[in-house]
Amino acid sequence: MANEGIEIEGLVFSASEADAAMSASRAVTPDLVEDDLALDRSLRPKLLADYAGQEKVKDSLSVLIEAAKARGESVDHILFSGPPGLGKTTLATVVANELHASIRTTSGPAIERTGDLAAILTNLEEGDVLFIDEIHRLNRMVEEVLYPALEDFVLDIVVGKGPAARSIRLDLPRFTLIGATTRTGLLTGPLRDRFGMLFRLDYYTPDELATIVCRSASILDIGIEQDGALEIARRSRGTPRLANRLLKRVRDWAQVRGDGTIDEDVAAQALSFFEVDSLGLDIMDNRILELLAVQFAGRPVGLTTLASALSEDPETLEDVYEPYLLQQGLMIRTPRGRQATERTYDHLGIAVPPTN
Ligand SMILES: Nc1ncnc2c1ncn2[C@@H]1O[C@H](COP(=O)(O)OP(=O)(O)O)[C@@H](O)[C@H]1O
Ligand SMILES: [Mg+2]
Repeated sequence: MANEGIEIEGLVFSASEADAAMSASRAVTPDLVEDDLALDRSLRPKLLADYAGQEKVKDSLSVLIEAAKARGESVDHILFSGPPGLGKTTLATVVANELHASIRTTSGPAIERTGDLAAILTNLEEGDVLFIDEIHRLNRMVEEVLYPALEDFVLDIVVGKGPAARSIRLDLPRFTLIGATTRTGLLTGPLRDRFGMLFRLDYYTPDELATIVCRSASILDIGIEQDGALEIARRSRGTPRLANRLLKRVRDWAQVRGDGTIDEDVAAQALSFFEVDSLGLDIMDNRILELLAVQFAGRPVGLTTLASALSEDPETLEDVYEPYLLQQGLMIRTPRGRQATERTYDHLGIAVPPTN
């Protein structure tokens, strides 16, 4: 087949591959169903001023953005880390909006081959933001093509095959990479070093979440009182995505069982109905605690053992469920495994077993 495309390590790439990679990336987040994705998009703040909480991160970002705009330069590469649903993707789009830049979105697992990355990079324009979600899941070969692109804005590619093959260096436009990861620990050192700024997002306070709930309620045209918003906020595990999801559930309940307006009482009843407890823990969280406290009787349990007892994969357990339970002191991680704490028994309302 006659093909005029550029070959990289024997692979011909075209612009449409980059597009395929980008649309694939929209389906990657495992804990999100279609409905939640639509909700996420409709409620996503566009500017820093609408983005609640994370005050220190926002302060630093606004300085970076102002400085870059004043100098007419692109912003340094940025890495956001933190558990799912805390606003990493949102913040990437906010940064792009504040810079008046276009954003191209993809994810680590979607970039399978070096050719995929080359196609994405060569399609960027000066000042663009490239957002790579789950950047810790880039494969090593792809990562190595990324290094010179990040450092010197160049792309080294091999053109042709066999003895005629030669390496050429393409200049890339100056762009800003924004990476997101649930765990910085999984990033390789060389990749981490190429980010100018690393930001860790923390769980939100109930007050911050209440602000988010009120904002979402007004966008979705839901009647809510301040104490109703706060009740939802307290049970949202410090996570905006969950707060928005619970708001929707409570709205449904209030329509059917109440008069439509959400106050503290309605929120509490609705959330109990949906089996979200007073700490915001759901059935899965409570099963984890029960396993640790009862079945394993407070003894340390390895991650894989715990995961298989839950029929859940270890990565999800570690990324999605554990961080909040750890932060709340409902479990601890010891060198020998995960363990229940006094607070675990307290929360489950059962006695601490005698130590043996
Ligand atoms: N600081 C915030 N202020 C308001 N809403 C937020 C904030 N952070 C997240 N959200 C909401 O939560 C949803 C999930 O955020 P997202 O950026 O997708 O999280 P992540 O990428 O960290 O998993 C967003 O759609 C947005 O509606
Ligand atoms: Mg995201």
